[in-house]
Amino acid sequence: MPVPPENLRLGYEEYLSSGEGHVKTMFEIIEASDFSLNEGNKILDLGCGAGRMIRHLKNLSAACEIWGTDISAEHIYWCKQNLSPPFNFATTTKIPHLPFEDRYFNLIYCGSLFTHIDDLAEAWLLELRRILSPNGRLYITIHDNHTMELFDDEYSFPEIVKHIKSHEIFEESKDKMGMLSIGRDDSSQVFYDIDYFTKTLNPMFEILSITQEAYYYQTAILLKRKSGRQSIKTKWKVITTTLSPSVFIYPSNIVAFSISAATFSIVFATIEICSVASFQSRCSIASRTAGKVFTP
Ligand SMILES: C[S@@+](CC[C@H](N)C(=O)[O-])C[C@H]1O[C@@H](n2cnc3c(N)ncnc32)[C@H](O)[C@@H]1O
Repeated sequence: MPVPPENLRLGYEEYLSSGEGHVKTMFEIIEASDFSLNEGNKILDLGCGAGRMIRHLKNLSAACEIWGTDISAEHIYWCKQNLSPPFNFATTTKIPHLPFEDRYFNLIYCGSLFTHIDDLAEAWLLELRRILSPNGRLYITIHDNHTMELFDDEYSFPEIVKHIKSHEIFEESKDKMGMLSIGRDDSSQVFYDIDYFTKTLNPMFEILSITQEAYYYQTAILLKRKSGRQSIKTKWKVITTTLSPSVFIYPSNIVAFSISAATFSIVFATIEICSVASFQSRCSIASRTAGKVFTP
């Protein structure tokens, strides 16, 4: 397969081997979560650039439908000219809306995308949840506290690290931030406190694993769609296992048990509806209020 010209490589060195390594690590993490791809499955590389990672999925392309999308028309143009077939590509926008049906993809991955999404990150996560199949996997990489610790040591990529550390706000905020963005738009470098980020993910996704240094100094998070029905099912199991022994010991308790279980269900369903409503209203405020944003 053709290799993109230097100006489309987004600064990645060892272009072929780094992409291959990041794909290998990603599949190790995904397979450890008891997931495997099957014939007819669909895969999305969101923010694919010039295809540094997607090109290493060639061996899956006969069995799976594989898409790459990016906001950079220049990169997608090159991908369409040089990597399609076997892959499919589309240029998308910065608005969290993708041209795919609900639950379309079995695997979605975003290598170093949330490291540059300085606005509407929660809305992007919701959009990815929408197009992820119920048992599918979402793999994302972020800058987190561990990344910041690595920046304190002598680490590779001195130029980027020097650039990031030259902003006063980085040193000022690193111990007390939820989310921190250095720069805006295309040049933004976004950092998360890992606890803050996992709390953000929690209403939408089940967190399957967190792996530090999975993609250079970035931490990988593997997610699965969390459905409202699923969590109600879990709560129902808790209710029945907690209350049922008393039914067997005292059969006369069966009426009391039924009433209590029904009451619990109504309470949990109400909490569920309220938390979804409150989450959606928080999304409209987006990350702007959640963290510090600095424009140099
Ligand atoms: C650091 S590069 C990573 C490229 C590729 N994932 C890789 O690992 O080689 C980030 C890419 O995300 C793209 N990007 C940034 N924001 C995006 C968005 N909202 N939707 C899609 N792509 C986006 C950029 O154009 C760029 O190609």
